[in-house]
Amino acid sequence: MSPPSLTDRLVRGVFQLWSSTYDWSPLQLVLYRPVHRAVMRAVERWPAPRRSLDLGCGTARLTRDLARRYPRATTIGLDVSSGMLAAARRSPEARMLALVRGDAYALPFASGSLDLVTTTVAYHWLLDPAAALAEMRRVLVPGGGLVLGTLVSYLGSRRYLGMRVVTVRQHEQDLAAAGFVVEGHAPVGHRVVVFAARAGG
Ligand SMILES: C[S@@+](CC[C@H](N)C(=O)[O-])C[C@H]1O[C@@H](n2cnc3c(N)ncnc32)[C@H](O)[C@@H]1O
Repeated sequence: MSPPSLTDRLVRGVFQLWSSTYDWSPLQLVLYRPVHRAVMRAVERWPAPRRSLDLGCGTARLTRDLARRYPRATTIGLDVSSGMLAAARRSPEARMLALVRGDAYALPFASGSLDLVTTTVAYHWLLDPAAALAEMRRVLVPGGGLVLGTLVSYLGSRRYLGMRVVTVRQHEQDLAAAGFVVEGHAPVGHRVVVFAARAGG
C-alpha cells in the first residue's frame, strides 16, 4: 500500500479534529441517520450476517444499529481515526462491538472472512475507489453483501474538497469492475445513494 497522499492526510486530520463533536453535528439528523436507516433496510433484505464490518464507522452509530439488530453476529467497526474510535468507545453499547483502527486500503482481516460490509458517507473520501473496493471484495465471502451509502453527482463526476463525487452510473461501473454484482440502489434525499451489491463468486 502506498503512503497516504497529502489530501488523504488532510482529510484524516479533519476527521480527527471533528471526532469530539461529530455526534452533535446537525448532519446526524439531516443526513447521516437517514442514510443509516436506508442501509439497515437494504441489509435486512438479506439473511442475517454472521460477521460484518462497518468500514469508516466514525463514532459507530450504524455499527451499533447493526449489533442491536443482529446480536448473535460479530459486528466490527473500523476507522482510521483514533478520535472517532475513542468517541465510539464512550457509548455503553460499545461492548457489543469490535472496534478496530485500520485503513480502508489495507483491511486487517483475512480474505473471505466477512459476509457483510457496510460503509456510510465515507467512501467518497476514498480517492482510489478501485483499491478500496478491491479490499472490500477481498474480505467478503463470495456472495457476501456490500451496502454502500455515498454521495452522488447528477452533473458528471468531479473531485472537490478531498472528495470524489461521481454519478450513479460511474459508481455501478466501479463496483462491477471490482467484482461486485449490483442488486439495486435507493436515493436518500438528493445527494446520497445507497447501493446494495454482492461479491461475485
Ligand atoms: C463522514 S464520516 C462517516 C462516519 C460514519 N460512517 C457515519 O455514518 O457517521 C467518514 C469517516 O471515514 C473515515 N475514513 C476516512 N478515510 C478512511 C480510510 N482510509 N480508512 C478508514 N476510515 C476512513 C473517517 O475517519 C471518518 O470517521
